[in-house]
Amino acid sequence: MSDTLQALTGGTAVITGAGSGIGEGLARVAAEAGMRVVVADIAVDRAEAVAADIRGQGGEALAVKVDVADPASIDALADAAFDAFGEVTLLVNNAGVETLGFTWELPTELWEKTLNINIHGAIHGVRAFAPRMIASGRPGWIANTASIGGLGMMPIQTSYILSKHAMISFSECLFLEMQVKQSPIRVSAILPGPVATRIFEDSGQSSDTASAEHGAMMHAMLQADGMTGLEAAQVILPQIAAGEFWVSTHPEMTRQFAAARAAHLSALAMPSLPEEVLRGMGLEP
Ligand SMILES: NC(=O)c1ccc[n+]([C@@H]2O[C@H](COP(=O)([O-])OP(=O)(O)OC[C@H]3O[C@@H](n4cnc5c(N)ncnc54)[C@H](O)[C@@H]3O)[C@@H](O)[C@H]2O)c1
Repeated sequence: MSDTLQALTGGTAVITGAGSGIGEGLARVAAEAGMRVVVADIAVDRAEAVAADIRGQGGEALAVKVDVADPASIDALADAAFDAFGEVTLLVNNAGVETLGFTWELPTELWEKTLNINIHGAIHGVRAFAPRMIASGRPGWIANTASIGGLGMMPIQTSYILSKHAMISFSECLFLEMQVKQSPIRVSAILPGPVATRIFEDSGQSSDTASAEHGAMMHAMLQADGMTGLEAAQVILPQIAAGEFWVSTHPEMTRQFAAARAAHLSALAMPSLPEEVLRGMGLEP
């Protein structure tokens, strides 16, 4: 275990979306770091399997079903975690979904679902957990999973991309709120690059061909080029433990995206994407 991770040892982690992908990796790495882990997911069978595996390796883990789109379900998750372990020192608002479709073609339910999970899920996570974490007076960590995509723009993924911009903004404001309160809770924004998970297999999408093609292309790209969820977690968790605000899986790519975003904004440039990106998506104007 890295020295940095020792800051987390003996604490309790709650990770949403921990039944798969990056969240599952984070649950496993947190357990290896000596944390008790609440493995929370809407897919409770997957959460149970991850928790059982952690227990099988000598760790302490509890699976809890949560729908982060439902504030009452998040309240119940917080109660379950505090009842079981008496404290929560690390909250990772990680559950998220991909959704594909032109803004005006995406059905209302998919818009609502995406924003409720990807944005409101993290907001209600903080609302439900932070008061008890702050009141404990102990050092703690709250991390929100945004995306490297939260530094850019992408047609057809509009609902997803805007939700990830929102996660960065939310995390920045939350960081400052903790400072105003002189709270020892550190806040991080996680900006994963490509990670091979089930996110595009499970994506919601409108019925047009462009969305289906784009989804298939993104899925293939992640499976071919992405690191595993466990590898992602192994680089993410030490950064959170160290109190980094910007947490990357692909630091060079993050820096490039951030520099491109900064240049774009300081020039007040028109929205644009490189032609090869548009061509790869079958979206040349
Ligand atoms: N995979 C990538 O390349 C990548 C890149 C950038 C950001 N991310 C972000 O990482 C996070 C994790 O995604 P992943 O790639 O591991 O995907 P994943 O699909 O493998 O895992 C997401 C998990 O969230 C759960 N979930 C979905 N809706 C939920 C709900 N309403 N309540 C509770 N749990 C719910 C799913 O059941 C699933 O187990 C997401 O926020 C995603 O946007 C992923």
